Amino acid sequence: MTQQNRATFGSKLGVLMATVGCAVGLGNIWRFPYMLGQNGGAAFLAVYILCIILLGLPVMLSEFFIGRYTRKNAAGAFKVLAPGTKWSLIGYNGVLASFLILGFYSVVAGWTLEYMLQAVTGSLSDKAPEAFAQDFKLFSTGIFRPIFWTVAFIGLTHFIVVSGVKEGIERTSKVMMPMLFFILLALCIRSVTLPNASEGLYFLFKPDFSKITSAVVLSAMGQAFFSLSIGMGCLITYSSYFSKDTKMQITALQVTILDTLVAVMAGVMIFPAVFSFGIAPTAGPELVFITLPNVFQQLPMGAIWSLVFFLLLALAALTSTISLHEVATAYVHEEYQITRTKAAWFVSGGVMVLGILSSLSIGIWKEYTLFGLTFFDLLDYLTAKIMLPFGGMLICIYLGNRVDRKILKEELTNKGTVPFYFFNTYAFFMKYIAPIAIGMIFLNELGIIQW
Ligand code: PHE
Repeated sequence: MTQQNRATFGSKLGVLMATVGCAVGLGNIWRFPYMLGQNGGAAFLAVYILCIILLGLPVMLSEFFIGRYTRKNAAGAFKVLAPGTKWSLIGYNGVLASFLILGFYSVVAGWTLEYMLQAVTGSLSDKAPEAFAQDFKLFSTGIFRPIFWTVAFIGLTHFIVVSGVKEGIERTSKVMMPMLFFILLALCIRSVTLPNASEGLYFLFKPDFSKITSAVVLSAMGQAFFSLSIGMGCLITYSSYFSKDTKMQITALQVTILDTLVAVMAGVMIFPAVFSFGIAPTAGPELVFITLPNVFQQLPMGAIWSLVFFLLLALAALTSTISLHEVATAYVHEEYQITRTKAAWFVSGGVMVLGILSSLSIGIWKEYTLFGLTFFDLLDYLTAKIMLPFGGMLICIYLGNRVDRKILKEELTNKGTVPFYFFNTYAFFMKYIAPIAIGMIFLNELGIIQW
């Protein structure tokens, strides 16, 4: 395809929705609450929001610049920007990260399918809180069922990536994303009106700053990168489809605000219920799955609520897995010159192996650990806490030092037609603040420096 006729998103809303679809997913609704629960509650939220503003926004805008300016995928973009240099490492890091993320993300996405089924068969109702926890454990540590759903979810993603029915998905997500938003709102209202709900709200919003440790900071930074889908080139690929008059500063701001809003709403939905039903906020990856069924039980027609909720969650996960799969498939397709379909098969095959291993590592292979982490946790840790921030740091260093400011400003202001009031601040952040902050968080976690 030549530069001129490369596809672009059809409308402003299309641009926003596709990018929000990539960002909003299990990261917001599943990972955010459990990370917050394990990392001291409101103090985590405070650091998270700081990371979103200070690191997330500038990195997102920079990815938009790289994508739309070069009109290439993540790995290809650096071959255009900096041919013959090592900067394409950013692209490779991203490709590998997308592959590894899929390896554990699809397991959790599979859980949402199981819960949809359970909502239909009625096994998600009439139980005590402990019974939901027990049933979840039984299911997730099993062999066949979770693997079946993991493979099914990867298959679904594969099918959409190769058959090009993405437009259908884009169109549906324009309806489903707002629906997800409203159902979250309804669940938040139900949750905050439960007995003892205020305790959950305190946990979420009343920070105890003494809880901030280097591990909390690293987790919050990792969560910010993971949730915004930055640091791994996904948004470089997406923005390569933006049109020349997409106002990228506004899009970045909108995506960031919506993504953060969904995460905070997930917190408001989960924590009052957690405290109301006596569930441990530190429960980990199972937190959402053992808390929500209790909330649904409190609603009239609970089974329908839970079916719709898990359906929407599965869809939100799907719009993210498609983007992750696309990064890896596009790379294999272009780099090894094999057909897209074959490339997608390679990716899906590899991801299935990782997915099966991650699923088993929650159950029968729980004892096999590396650095004290199971395979599932290892993939999560490696991607969210290391590879994405590392990719983000390199993007900042590259942009802050290697890109001509005039070109950068021209692209981000659509040739001077959109004002960029904080351009100098942004450039300063990219050059100094963001890379140094990320670097220090890494060094601190490794114990090399201490604050
Ligand atoms: N941001 C997605 C979520 O929150 C996950 C994701 C990460 C998607 C990185 C693409 C790239 O669920």
